[in-house]
Amino acid sequence: MCGMLAAAVQDFKNLTFLKWKALRCPHHASGALAKSCEIELIWRIPIDGLDYYAMVQLLIVYHSKTGGSRQMAEAACSAACEEVTTVLKTAQEAGPEDLLGADGYIFCAPENLAAIAGVMKDFYDRSYYPALGRIEGRPYAQMVCAGSDGESAARQTARIAQGWRLKDVQPPLIICTHAQTPDEILAEKTIPEEQLALCRDLGAAMGAGLSIGAF
Ligand SMILES: Cc1cc2nc3c(=O)[nH]c(=O)nc-3n(C[C@H](O)[C@H](O)[C@H](O)COP(=O)(O)O)c2cc1C
Repeated sequence: MCGMLAAAVQDFKNLTFLKWKALRCPHHASGALAKSCEIELIWRIPIDGLDYYAMVQLLIVYHSKTGGSRQMAEAACSAACEEVTTVLKTAQEAGPEDLLGADGYIFCAPENLAAIAGVMKDFYDRSYYPALGRIEGRPYAQMVCAGSDGESAARQTARIAQGWRLKDVQPPLIICTHAQTPDEILAEKTIPEEQLALCRDLGAAMGAGLSIGAF
């Protein structure tokens, strides 16, 4: 998509996000929702009498030092991408342009020292003002990987999302590894299958909700 068209589509999304659920897939004369489109999850956007097309996109941003959050984000991604176009990025890779280009978000990070892990916080710091006022109303969910708590990181993320006027679609999913000693905390993590299933459920729900315009 050329830059001008991308900007027009973005403006349209920002202005009319709430109307998205009324748009219909252009590949189905019967007016089926985009979810059932065989080609891609695409929305038709009329601008000045011309039809433009845009994909519905879920962005997952994560940070992980010892693998727990990465496994959670990858699990959510594996389920979400069955439902909707899904982009998975690390907090270091991601920036405000990724937020602007997506229609909903999953944020996933460890709790460190009763706070959001610093690398994830840096993503928020870099992105907060460039995205402020431009992503209002978009849905988000969050996952936290913690040793034994996770509530403080979840509250911080919720506060940032509230500043952006995002819509939280479910309570934070906090997974505790129960690592206690320094050696356990610094060791590579393996998130058990039943907990990864919760992450997949979250990703699937987020993806399905986005694809049918449910939020
Ligand atoms: C420096 C440091 C500080 C931590 N502080 C907390 C904390 O405040 N609360 C908590 O529940 N876990 C804490 N942990 C544990 C991590 O959240 C846990 O190990 C988690 O698995 C890390 O996620 P990751 O595997 O994606 O890196 C801390 C870990 C480190 C390395």
